[in-house]
Amino acid sequence: MKIFLDTANIEHIREANSWGVIDGVTTNPTLIAREGREFREVVEEICSIVDGPISVEVIALDHEGMINEARDLAKIHRNIVIKIPMTVDGLKAVKVLSREGVKTNMTLVFSPNQAILAAKAGATYVSPFIGRLDDIGHEGMSLVAKVVKIYQNYGFDTQVIVASVRHPMHVVEAAMIGAHVCTVPYAVLEKMVKHPLTDIGIERFLADWRRYRGEG
Ligand code: G3P
Repeated sequence: MKIFLDTANIEHIREANSWGVIDGVTTNPTLIAREGREFREVVEEICSIVDGPISVEVIALDHEGMINEARDLAKIHRNIVIKIPMTVDGLKAVKVLSREGVKTNMTLVFSPNQAILAAKAGATYVSPFIGRLDDIGHEGMSLVAKVVKIYQNYGFDTQVIVASVRHPMHVVEAAMIGAHVCTVPYAVLEKMVKHPLTDIGIERFLADWRRYRGEG
């Protein structure tokens, strides 16, 4: 499973990238706004750090506006993937862009039907938002399982990005299901590294080493 970092924070992207575990980055308007910097400048900087798919979202709601924005954003870097919301206009835009060879990520997907349509329209990626489904008492991860199965049944090329991830177990479940990608916030990535037995193990090894060296 590929791991994308779900953030526009340059410090976090630089740090996670140095661990050698990041395959790409996803952003959205909320994440970009949080940084308080110029949009294009942030996107260019992300592209200069991570050599993998970088999702950036369009703001327009009509398909012509989406297509124009997408064509413009795609010029920033060869790794740019255009995030487009799951609407009728979004589908129209994905259809046109996929034929032009522009990579797309159909976002705000909350049902298997939406995922089927995204794949039919030619989306490169589809992003089911699991955390937001969990938040309203639905099982977000069962949506992922259904979408992965449906795509397998019919050999769709569209890759599933498990999005709106809230904790490390979401990542494990995504991998168990066989999702192509899981996009994780930096805080979740940090938690994935941690295990108390690792910390205890290091402490014991060092204590034994100090005793062996007569240091304590
Ligand atoms: O990848 C989409 C993600 O950024 C949405 O996450 O936590 O706002 O539901 P969240």
